[in-house]
Amino acid sequence: MPAAGPAQTFTSPVSKEFDVVVIGAGPGGYIAAIRAAQLGKTVACVEQWKNPEGKLKLGGTCLNVGCIPSKALLASSEAYENAQHHLADHGIGVGDLTLDVGKMVARKAAIVDKITGGVEFLFRKNKITWLKGHGTLLGRTATGVAIEVSGEGQAEVVGAKDVIIATGSKARHLPDVPVDNRIVSDNEGALSFDSVPKKLAVIGAGVIGLELGSVWRRLGADVTLLEALPEFLGACDESLSKEAAKLFKKQGLAIHFGVKIGEVKQNASGVSIAYTDKDGAAQTLDADRLIVSIGRVPNTDKLGLDAVGLATDARGFIPVDDQCRTSAPNIYAIGDVVRGPMLAHKAEDEGVLAAEVIVGQKPHIDYNCIPWVIYTEPEIAWVGKTEQQLRAEGRAYKTGQFPMMANGRALGIGKTDGFVKMIADATTDELLGCHIIAANASDLIAEAVVALEFKAASEDIGIICHPHPSLSEVVREASLAVTKRALNI
Ligand code: NAI
Repeated sequence: MPAAGPAQTFTSPVSKEFDVVVIGAGPGGYIAAIRAAQLGKTVACVEQWKNPEGKLKLGGTCLNVGCIPSKALLASSEAYENAQHHLADHGIGVGDLTLDVGKMVARKAAIVDKITGGVEFLFRKNKITWLKGHGTLLGRTATGVAIEVSGEGQAEVVGAKDVIIATGSKARHLPDVPVDNRIVSDNEGALSFDSVPKKLAVIGAGVIGLELGSVWRRLGADVTLLEALPEFLGACDESLSKEAAKLFKKQGLAIHFGVKIGEVKQNASGVSIAYTDKDGAAQTLDADRLIVSIGRVPNTDKLGLDAVGLATDARGFIPVDDQCRTSAPNIYAIGDVVRGPMLAHKAEDEGVLAAEVIVGQKPHIDYNCIPWVIYTEPEIAWVGKTEQQLRAEGRAYKTGQFPMMANGRALGIGKTDGFVKMIADATTDELLGCHIIAANASDLIAEAVVALEFKAASEDIGIICHPHPSLSEVVREASLAVTKRALNI
């Protein structure tokens, strides 16, 4: 880990001065810029992202090659799978089903265009200057920090009283396995396949591997995931990981755990992956395409951290305090480039927080109340503590669980897989965690997030009227189940 040296002094004139310059316009950076502008600051945001046509785009990974396009493809592939397997249950016949992957991918691209264009509109509305190019910190000036913006025409140097670094993360690649986003892809290429691979290999059965593996499985690919760890979805409550493993196996996702990846070779027909299985036996997996989804690394390339007296930690993150302050005065860092989960909504909250800290407000983020979501089918979402965390802490707790199968709305929409589980303190009944594997878990979890933020008891959710018939009734029933009062089971 490089030690932080002294900050450099930048004495040349700058072309423009801003109150706040945000580096990076992903969900952390563009939200930080908007909030700072709302609070009366003059704001600029540096962004260099280019789409495949070479057009500069705001929105970062989330909007361009992450959350938004993957959810578009998940919806398309779910519609295809429904038409293929489930509409007949409703008495609906669809005749000859066809699949136009090009059109599906074009729909996704149009959604991305619309939403990134929306951020451009928000920048104009909030009078935020988009500095097009790569931002590099040059050193301290008499009034703040100098930042060079380069790569698009003439380089320029601007000044900022405060800087928010929101440079995000990039896909981690395997050493010696070049990603061409054709045969071997990371999240970016895996969102733009031109046809459905017959056999798709995925290295890493984490969030991206499961979401994108699910997309291509639904469209007809034979998908095999190779996971280094011996257990599945280690961050989830163990009951959810168990249920997910069972359901994904039933859907046809083959997942091998405890593997060690060896040589990965491209050949005329695709790619061949040598690995040792959990018993140490040598295996080979041949596939048409490979997705490498083994985590992400923070983006600090050519950022000029050393010029302002900063250095990354051993894992490449920029160290910050609870209010996203780095050790350099007036320089903040948020989102994937700092500690904590690499989630768009966590980055957004930190963006708001950093802007509010700059104007002297006292915002706070409770990281225990940040929800997690995995957009598989069914979706997986949770907030707060898992059973295994509470056991490790030695905290006494009680649980309540309710199956989707016993919910009328779930039956009506044909989404009866999964359950909701609530965990509450054994003595005070304070809700400590909510764990959902169910259709619409990403929406259902919001109620539990509110409950945790407000330090509600499980009884509070149990006695609140919920709309009928709705999936949200399962959240209520699971809360009632904590005190063995569930009504419909
Ligand atoms: P991840 O951390 O979720 O999963 C990576 C998996 O790869 C882990 O299970 C890990 O054990 C495995 N792995 C690592 N090295 C390996 C190797 N050499 N061989 C085999 N397996 C190996 O990372 P992922 O899926 O790449 O996602 C990156 C980040 O993006 C995550 O932090 C995730 O939170 C975020 N993200 C969030 C989404 C959401 O909120 N729905 C959607 C997509 C990404």
